[in-house]
Amino acid sequence: MSTTKTMIPLLLLLLLSPLSTTASTAAYPTIPGTIDTSVSSSQPDNLIPIRNEIYGNGKIFDISHRYINDMPVWDSKDGLGKFLSLPASMKNGSLANNSEMKLPTHTGTHVDSPGHVFDHYFDSGFDVDTLDLEVLNGPALLVDVPRHSNITAEVMKSLHIPKGVRRVLFRTLNTDRRLMFKREFDRSYVGFTKDGAKWLVDNTDIKLVGIDYLSVAAWSDLIPSHLVFLEGREIILVEALKLDDIQPGVYSVHCRRGISNKMRSHQMITFSVSY
Ligand SMILES: *[C@@H]1O[C@H](CO)[C@@H](O)[C@H](O)[C@H]1NC(C)=O
Ligand SMILES: *[C@@H]1O[C@H](CO)[C@@H](O)[C@H](O)[C@H]1NC(C)=O
Ligand SMILES: *[C@@H]1O[C@H](CO)[C@@H](O)[C@H](O)[C@H]1NC(C)=O
Repeated sequence: MSTTKTMIPLLLLLLLSPLSTTASTAAYPTIPGTIDTSVSSSQPDNLIPIRNEIYGNGKIFDISHRYINDMPVWDSKDGLGKFLSLPASMKNGSLANNSEMKLPTHTGTHVDSPGHVFDHYFDSGFDVDTLDLEVLNGPALLVDVPRHSNITAEVMKSLHIPKGVRRVLFRTLNTDRRLMFKREFDRSYVGFTKDGAKWLVDNTDIKLVGIDYLSVAAWSDLIPSHLVFLEGREIILVEALKLDDIQPGVYSVHCRRGISNKMRSHQMITFSVSY
């Protein structure tokens, strides 16, 4: 399989550093319209699954988006739409339930591989399986980007991210505007301009760049910024992170992959670790 994006992949988990203050469930609300069943009783016949977005008393946050019909997809007014079906079901006599998904690989929280924007990298096989797991897991800094601008060289400079920091999750106006919770794609999202991307590549040790909408690159610099980031085949781009209500600071980022046939767990989750 040679996809250029992880097929819907990533559940990224953040583990709070020991020094951080604890956050409550209330500070990290579930997506509107979904049921919060975070607590289930110990009665054996109360079959209510636990669907948390925070775990371990606020030490771990799920920072990937759920797949829902109303979530935005790239440059479309209509959103994702129906992507899930159940071709085999126990209620209809099958031995097991078996779901089927059909959706663009750029949907929800995902990573970009070098083959995404370089045809010769694609042909040579630089797909998501070639991404460095060491980059995808480890200490990460969550920063708030000034809200008045896209991420330009000047903005990058103003963030004063120390040398040696290898993973940064950029929280922007996109989170305030709740763009990932709106069905219609919005081209005015915040992302990196070409000079911002270039500044990061030339002046920092950052190898994992995370952002809170469907592209790290601003619409106006879409391809140029991607080219700058991915040409060296060292930087991994993580797009459409869910960073609501998480305090800026140092975390440990974890990435796991997997698929399940339950609606909630369609995030394929890639790997996990502790701090
Ligand atoms: C199996 O599919 C049925 C629909 O036929 C559904 O009601 C049930 O919840 C599913 N079970 C599981 C474990 O997903
Ligand atoms: C079960 O089969 C019936 C008849 O083919 C179909 O109408 C129904 O949608 C199926 N239900 C599930 C959950 O697959
Ligand atoms: C970011 O750039 C987009 C164009 O790609 C523009 O529509 C938007 O207004 C800019 N956002 C800010 C905060 O400057």
